[in-house]
Amino acid sequence: MAQDVKEETLESIAHDTNPLTNDNAKNEENDNEEDRDEGEAQQTADNSTNKGSRIGRDDPFEFGKRNLTEQSDVWDHNAWDNIEWGEEQIEQANERIAEQKKNPVSDYDKGLYNGNPARYWDIFYKNNKENFFKDRKWLQIEFPILYSSTRKDAGPVTIFEIGCGAGNTFFPILNQNENKDLKIYAADFAPKAVDLVKESPNFNPEFGSACVWDLADPNGNLPEGMEPHSVDIAVMIFVFSALAPNQWDQAMENLHKIMKPGGKILFREYSFGDMAQLRFKKNRILDDNFYVRGDGTRVYFFTEEELRTIFTKNNYFIEHKIAIDRRLLVNRKRKLKMYRCWIQAMFEASPE
Ligand SMILES: C[S@@+](CC[C@H](N)C(=O)[O-])C[C@H]1O[C@@H](n2cnc3c(N)ncnc32)[C@H](O)[C@@H]1O
Repeated sequence: MAQDVKEETLESIAHDTNPLTNDNAKNEENDNEEDRDEGEAQQTADNSTNKGSRIGRDDPFEFGKRNLTEQSDVWDHNAWDNIEWGEEQIEQANERIAEQKKNPVSDYDKGLYNGNPARYWDIFYKNNKENFFKDRKWLQIEFPILYSSTRKDAGPVTIFEIGCGAGNTFFPILNQNENKDLKIYAADFAPKAVDLVKESPNFNPEFGSACVWDLADPNGNLPEGMEPHSVDIAVMIFVFSALAPNQWDQAMENLHKIMKPGGKILFREYSFGDMAQLRFKKNRILDDNFYVRGDGTRVYFFTEEELRTIFTKNNYFIEHKIAIDRRLLVNRKRKLKMYRCWIQAMFEASPE
């Protein structure tokens, strides 16, 4: 039975991953974000009815609380939190990845995708102008520090959203800011994304600014107007996965250069074995755990150990917390099980 469900799941969800041409796959990385938003919204609503809002009170790493204790209950809800992975799931993931490796991206195409990654993201934003802003309610719960910085009495704070896209963190913060000493920067290497942010009616130049900047800039340039070691809180949500592994070291150099000693990095990404990884078909794998979507944008799936090594290498950053968020999404009608895996972390810039 488990085997049947596995095969049906992987086959049914495997499809062209082009967010621009396939409705199902549209916003591949955001399907889950919508699920998550709904889940959190529901939880917040439940809790506010019963016990008052969770916002600002929960441990940022306390994910949802719907735990599957009896396997026979699996079809009773659409989603389960804190799912444990056993040998069976790991084996299935490895089998699937071994299949993908039989048909990697050709060297010629690798050259194209790795040669100018910003171009593919730029086209992506050109084609998805309307649909990209999401008011992520979970941000307040998972990263309360972001919101405490917006309080009237919070004092001088500089926040930087890296790989801001349409400003999914930038705008919620800016919109609720009451701190006259808050500065918030947004940067993305896709010029169209930066245009989206700057042209938004919610853009407020009194506190916010936005510019084109490459996190992995090989020359180590800083974003326009930013002083070295001036950022208190950097937000990196679904941006680091867009880098090739050979860009990680440069990105860490650049990040180290902008962070204040003691500054915090708030991080969320895809994790190894996520459904989005396993559903890639032929000619999508660029390197180990690194893929190209149908629209030419790249995505990496991290393990906890890998992330730890990347950030703590050279003693640039200290690990505060790394946690894997595993959920089981269930299509009750079609009896499908889909495993989602994200990795969330907080790092601190080392003292000079
Ligand atoms: C999956 S989107 C996430 C956008 C936003 N952080 C969010 O959570 O909605 C990834 C974003 O990272 C940007 N990006 C990718 N590589 C980058 C790099 N090297 N430097 C700056 N931005 C980058 C892309 O242009 C895109 O806007």
